[in-house]
Amino acid sequence: MQKNVEPASQLKGELIIPPDKSIAHRAAMFSSISDHTCLISNFPSARDPRSTLSCMHQLGVPMTVEQDKVEIIGVGRDGLKAPSSPLDCGNSGTTYRLLTGILAGAGISAELIGDASLSRRTMKRIIEPLRKMGAALSARDDAFPPVKIEKSMPLIPIRYELPVASAQVKSCVLLAGLFGEDRTEVIERIPSRDHTEKMLGLEVKQRGDKRHIYASLKDEVPSQSMRIPGDFSSAAFWLVAGCIHTDAELTLRGVGINPSRTALLDILKRMGADIRLIDERSEGKEPVADIQVQTTNLIPTEVFATEIPNAIDELPILAVAMACADGKSAIRNASELRHKETDRISAISKILRDAGVDIQEFEDGLEIQGEPGRSFSRFECTSEDDHRIAMAAAVAGLCSDGDCIIDQAEAAAVSYPDFWSDIERVR
Ligand code: S3P
Repeated sequence: MQKNVEPASQLKGELIIPPDKSIAHRAAMFSSISDHTCLISNFPSARDPRSTLSCMHQLGVPMTVEQDKVEIIGVGRDGLKAPSSPLDCGNSGTTYRLLTGILAGAGISAELIGDASLSRRTMKRIIEPLRKMGAALSARDDAFPPVKIEKSMPLIPIRYELPVASAQVKSCVLLAGLFGEDRTEVIERIPSRDHTEKMLGLEVKQRGDKRHIYASLKDEVPSQSMRIPGDFSSAAFWLVAGCIHTDAELTLRGVGINPSRTALLDILKRMGADIRLIDERSEGKEPVADIQVQTTNLIPTEVFATEIPNAIDELPILAVAMACADGKSAIRNASELRHKETDRISAISKILRDAGVDIQEFEDGLEIQGEPGRSFSRFECTSEDDHRIAMAAAVAGLCSDGDCIIDQAEAAAVSYPDFWSDIERVR
């Protein structure tokens, strides 16, 4: 699908932010291996979390799904059944990596497949620790989907210091560890999103500058009945649009503000953004707020290495904000961005360059020369089938001097199915 994004004369109004993809994946998976009947409301209609639901269903987990209401009857840690056909994770790296951990732990024979983009993403980072635990896994070129899990002996617990800051890898190892008699320990130097440990109630210890997280069969899997909060990573597009558009005033309703997800707020505030959190409250175990944002003159900044994992999904749209700041900004230490649904460093720098921005690409990031109050030059681009690139390009298009064409715009539905209609709502 091709989208023609016309410049917006204003961006004003209220938006209800779609439910959080990261939390939804976990709610569906953890409910399935719990001993509880879990009622999840505000479950996303987005493609990625729906892939997780269908995989869990294929693994023999009884569930009823009525629009955003999902009831999952947990089968416990020993109740999953080997699927008769490959589990299709679609575009979803979180489904793929977390589910591989669960299946390896449970000793379920299965093959996991994905779409073209997911099939290009490395699974080496989960294969290595799972093999250390004794799992029998094979993969194409020993790294890429499809990964096949052979029914294996109970896994050996490990102590694993993460070589990359990744919540998916952390969660994969912890989930495999959840099936072991003895404790598996995962150590992270730079913290990544903490939904897994929080939602499972795992023990976490801070020792010096490292976080240690523990999981074993002794950890009871709690009920996951909850209302899923709005996705901060989806709100991010409007936070930036609200800052850089010359006539913007937006209110974003029901946004999850878990501190392990909101580095973009700190970065934008450092850039002088006029962002206010109102009606801060809790939904289940997660903090939620409404967020107001309006037009501001941004100043340049550099992203700290410790902020990278906490803002990883927001870096493409942050690059758009930086292009409108009064001077040179930088995102470095972010080579992980090259391993997402597409190479996001290359994708966003190409789009911004075509939009008239002076931008320099490095192996681990970007340097961007901003111009305050700028209109981007009209551009044509492809999302490279990446939802966050499609939406980052659209925000630039709304602040441009002519119609911009975005190919493969349907990718937005992976996390934000109503994104294109929400644009019409506020323009
Ligand atoms: C996610 C972790 C991040 C993020 C992804 C969702 C999660 O990936 O980019 O969109 O839900 O755990 P990495 O763990 O690969 O950094």
